[in-house]
Amino acid sequence: MAFADYQDEIYLDGLRGVVPRFPMTYDDLEPLAQAALPASVRSYVAGGAGDERTQRANVTAFERWGLVPRMMVGATDRDLSVDLFGMRLPSPLFMAPVGVIGLCAQDGHGDLATARAAARTGVPMIASTLTVDPLEQVAEEFGATPGFFQLYTPTDRELAESLVHRAEKAGFKGIVVTLDTWITGWRPRDLGTSNFPQLRGNCLTNYTGDPVFRSRLTHSPEDDPKAAVALWARIFGNPLTWDDLPWLRSITDLPLILKGICHPDDVRRAKDAGVDGIYCSNHGGRQANGGLPALDALPAVVEAADGTPVLFDSGVRTGADIVKAVALGATAVGVGRPYAYGLAYGGEAGIVHVLRALLAEADLIMAVDGYPALADLTPDALRRLT
Ligand SMILES: Cc1cc2nc3c(=O)[nH]c(=O)nc-3n(C[C@H](O)[C@H](O)[C@H](O)COP(=O)(O)O)c2cc1C
Repeated sequence: MAFADYQDEIYLDGLRGVVPRFPMTYDDLEPLAQAALPASVRSYVAGGAGDERTQRANVTAFERWGLVPRMMVGATDRDLSVDLFGMRLPSPLFMAPVGVIGLCAQDGHGDLATARAAARTGVPMIASTLTVDPLEQVAEEFGATPGFFQLYTPTDRELAESLVHRAEKAGFKGIVVTLDTWITGWRPRDLGTSNFPQLRGNCLTNYTGDPVFRSRLTHSPEDDPKAAVALWARIFGNPLTWDDLPWLRSITDLPLILKGICHPDDVRRAKDAGVDGIYCSNHGGRQANGGLPALDALPAVVEAADGTPVLFDSGVRTGADIVKAVALGATAVGVGRPYAYGLAYGGEAGIVHVLRALLAEADLIMAVDGYPALADLTPDALRRLT
């Protein structure tokens, strides 16, 4: 089945008088999803760093590139599949780690809903360290779709190793280490209401259920939840340096991917230390305001990666954005808020819709514009607008 078939399904349903339950664009979905979320979760998901200029620039950066259509190609069959760390994925799309995704679901189990949506669509989920349900239970819902575990590296190395080894045992297919969030960026929306979900004890299950974490406490997290949160706050953020990378590399044989890389020199250092993937991202503009749109960092990152897979996210809102990011050299392209909003508004079905709509649009653009395979999408397919 082609991703474009989602369009036929929708039009055929219309002949039976059935119109879609979910909006077709991000702009239409965003207000509906925000209205469905409790204020504290809404602020945490929607907000970014500072006055959110970088967050907005991530999105508008895509408008500065235009795809050049090619005719008479006969792109009736498109191939969106990609090879990633020896796995064949049906498309380059993936779900970026979203720490409070659990809380975005009406039933409070958004991590499981996301994993089920991954199983239904073939779009991999990168599960955050910060989940409502433990990583083992999340992994059980993946079906045949590979899943990745995102590590927020704690200062306690033994705990870090325990989390990684649990992820290995649970069947995750790669470890994504996020580098840009050892400290929380300045987020006015959350600051204005003193809102930080984890400090209220949310999404800490992977820690509170971990034998190493528990061994560091005098009383169990069930008996003394405040002490558990205090310990979490102390050990959460490890200001890693390049000297820590050999250790990180040594603790797993799974593909190791570094998230938050935007400078070509950082790419080269990461490669020298034997990482398997580079993840170009500015955390959706949530961490440091005043930054370059992530898309503008992508070409130099891809060049320095020199064949090492590059995952990309930040600001992707449409199928056209996916196509453009691939043309600029991304191997795989992630979305954060789009699927969080799909979940908030429509549960698992809402995520499935968001993913299918993104992929249908990307597939149809490749059909109309005459680029039948991802390999045909090179920088030559794009023109920079002035
Ligand atoms: C509410 C929220 C929570 C996030 N939590 C995490 C996280 O736990 N780990 C992580 O590496 N990135 C996290 N991110 C960043 C995403 O992985 C991704 O980089 C970002 O959302 C991409 O930008 P987009 O939202 O514009 O698509 C989070 C993003 C959002 C919106």
